[in-house]
Amino acid sequence: MGVRSWYDAHVLPRVIAMGCSSDDVAQLRREVVPLARGAVFELGCGGGFNQQLYDPAQISSFAGIDPNATLLEAARASAQATGLAADFRSGVGENIPFADGSFDTVVCTYTLCSVGDQARVLAELRRVLKPGGRLLYLEHGRAPDAGVVRWQGRIEPVWKRLAGNCHLTREIGAAIRGAGFEVEPIGQEYFAKAPRWAGWMEWGMARRAGA
Ligand SMILES: C[S@@+](CC[C@H](N)C(=O)[O-])C[C@H]1O[C@@H](n2cnc3c(N)ncnc32)[C@H](O)[C@@H]1O
Repeated sequence: MGVRSWYDAHVLPRVIAMGCSSDDVAQLRREVVPLARGAVFELGCGGGFNQQLYDPAQISSFAGIDPNATLLEAARASAQATGLAADFRSGVGENIPFADGSFDTVVCTYTLCSVGDQARVLAELRRVLKPGGRLLYLEHGRAPDAGVVRWQGRIEPVWKRLAGNCHLTREIGAAIRGAGFEVEPIGQEYFAKAPRWAGWMEWGMARRAGA
C-alpha cells in the first residue's frame, strides 16, 4: 500500500469525521436532508453523517456512492445499525452507476468540494434526477469577500492534499446554476465554528431547469 492509499484508508476518514460529524454541522444538515422525498440518492454517502436526518416516512428507497472504501464501510455499518435499507456502491460522481431519471431527490453535502470534475459531476446529478426531482445541497466553497478568497487560494494547494482533494475556492450556487439547475437558496453564511477560509457555506435546493 502506498502512502497515499494508506492516508486515504486510515487518516482521511478521521479527518473527515472530525470536520463533518459535529452537532453544529448537523444543525445545517437539518435544513436540507429532511426535505428528501421518494427515491433518494446521496452522492459521497461515506461516513453516513446524514442518515439519521432523513424522514423514513418520506423515503421509498435510498442509494448512494462513495469512492473511499473506509468511509463507505462506515456508512454501511451506520445504515445497518439504524435499520435503513440502503444500496451503497463504490463509485464516483463523474460516472454515477444508475440510469437516467432514477431519483426524486439527490442529496449532496460537502462533496462538490472534493470531486475531481465538478462540472461533470453536476451533469451526472442532473441526469439521474427525474424531471421535477430536486437536488438538495449543503456545501462549503468560495467566499464572497476578496480578502478571504485570497487566503483560500493560498491555503488550497496544501489543504486539498490533506483533506481528500477538498477545494476551498469552488463556486457553489453559481456552479449548480451553470450546470442547468434552477436554484432556490435556503441559506448562506460564514460558519461560526470554522475559520473564514474554510467556513463559507451555502445550502438549498435545485431543480433541473426547464423540467
Ligand atoms: C467531506 S466528505 C463529506 C461526506 C458526506 N457527504 C458528508 O456530508 O458528511 C467528502 C466525501 O466525498 C467523497 N468523494 C470524493 N471524491 C468523490 C467523487 N469523485 N465522487 C463521489 N464522492 C466523492 C469522499 O470519499 C467523502 O466521503
